[in-house]
Amino acid sequence: MEEWIPIGYLLSAALFIFGLKKLGHPRTAPRGNQYGAMGMLVAVLTTVIDMQMTTVGGANWTLIIAGLVIGTVIGTIMAIRVEMTGMPELVALFNGFGGAASALVALSESWKYIEGSDALPTGLNIQVIMVAAGLSALVGWMTLTGSILAMFKLKGGISVFGKWFKTPTWGPTWLNPVKVLLVLSVFALIYLSIGDPRNTDYLWAIIAISCILGIVLVLPIGGADMPVVVSLLNSLSGIAAAFTGFIIGNSVLIVAGSLVGASGLILTFIMCKAMNRTLPDVLFKSFGGSGEKAELTRTKVGSDADEVAMMVDGAQKVIIVPGYGMAVSQCQHQVKEFADLIAEKFGTEVKYAIHPVAGRMPGHMNVLLAEANVPYEQLIEMDEINPEFPECDVAVIIGANDTTNPAARSGEGPLAGMPIIDADAARTVVIIKRSLSVGYAGVDNDLFYMDKTMMLFGDGKAMMTGLNNAIKDI
Ligand code: TAP
Repeated sequence: MEEWIPIGYLLSAALFIFGLKKLGHPRTAPRGNQYGAMGMLVAVLTTVIDMQMTTVGGANWTLIIAGLVIGTVIGTIMAIRVEMTGMPELVALFNGFGGAASALVALSESWKYIEGSDALPTGLNIQVIMVAAGLSALVGWMTLTGSILAMFKLKGGISVFGKWFKTPTWGPTWLNPVKVLLVLSVFALIYLSIGDPRNTDYLWAIIAISCILGIVLVLPIGGADMPVVVSLLNSLSGIAAAFTGFIIGNSVLIVAGSLVGASGLILTFIMCKAMNRTLPDVLFKSFGGSGEKAELTRTKVGSDADEVAMMVDGAQKVIIVPGYGMAVSQCQHQVKEFADLIAEKFGTEVKYAIHPVAGRMPGHMNVLLAEANVPYEQLIEMDEINPEFPECDVAVIIGANDTTNPAARSGEGPLAGMPIIDADAARTVVIIKRSLSVGYAGVDNDLFYMDKTMMLFGDGKAMMTGLNNAIKDI
């Protein structure tokens, strides 16, 4: 039976890798999710069998089942209650718990070796265990406090203290003395613990400093950059799991942790690229969501649904540009209805332009539109759809702002250099939002004031419903 344990772990690692591969495309993503879930089931079953065989007197089933029940109940309630717009906060919280769980397992496991109640695994000495425990504590506890703070920041709170920890105006950006000092002291403590491995004071000090480090690192970062930070913390929670896998000698935890670490890092860089920001810029320079918003001095007269419906009537090609406002108003079903109506009634060609950072989390628009059964073929990535705008009769922008703001091309201000959807190149632009207010980066949008732009002021769902009714009446 024992020889089946590594095979079980190998199978689950293979399922994780296949699952990740399938997650790379929207069409195959549901299958990828299933592979991942199957991989986790195989890993859990293998671990349970392994524990039953290797623990003297068998595993403590009461404790395991109690943990499973409590975790399942809390997780299910949170997942059911969360609004789609609150998903990034939930993901941030789960990342934090993942990091803390890894650090706790590493702590309890290394404790047994430090105390001497368990014999060290073959090939490992106590110094190696201390280094792994220290690194796992650094990454795990930093992930927990950083993620909890990121969650609150995404909710729009806590910006008051951020200025204390901003990068000083002198010296290179990474030279923030508080952060550098904290990181160095953790490494110094890990080094000291190697020389005095049975002294647990070092571990407690590492945990305390790591908790402070998580807060100090995330505190000055602007709300608009928070999804990037969440993705980075996700990557860190994977690295913490990999360190823990090393301590408990569990190969699948090392593989799965490394996969999470690597994919989280790749996603972080994809997001940075889409916002034209470097990772050090995100981590050390404040941007957007920090409360600085442009003052609005211009006005624009709004249009009505009938006017827009008549204009769409003559259009051969319409490109829909969704943004965060569509997520807030949850109008994806009305948007799909609009697309179906004009395709059927007027024979219009309809496509969707998807900006990589539209909304507040990666793939936010894809998830919402998939929920409304919009065919994947109609969802076109920004680089591919942009050349089509000059031939587009009407660009219909629903709750998008920063991702369409031509100010990004100016090379100045918070949006400088961010690639945008070229909706301003369309023959006519319709924008659905509640007011002329700025987007997350706080920059006024010239697109609203162009002669060819029609503003439909109001909540996305109410406006789309009105527009659909007006089209039906034609
Ligand atoms: P935003 O620039 O955030 O603008 C969204 C607009 O939606 C707002 O201007 C708001 O205007 C409108 N809105 C809000 N509620 C609405 C409702 N109920 N009905 C209709 N409109 C509503 O959106 P975006 O273009 O999607 O840009 C995303 C921003 O987030 C970018 O700055 C991006 O860099 C940042 N960001 C995103 C990510 C990811 S991964 N997605 C990561 C990091 C940063 P009104 O108040 O006038 O209605």
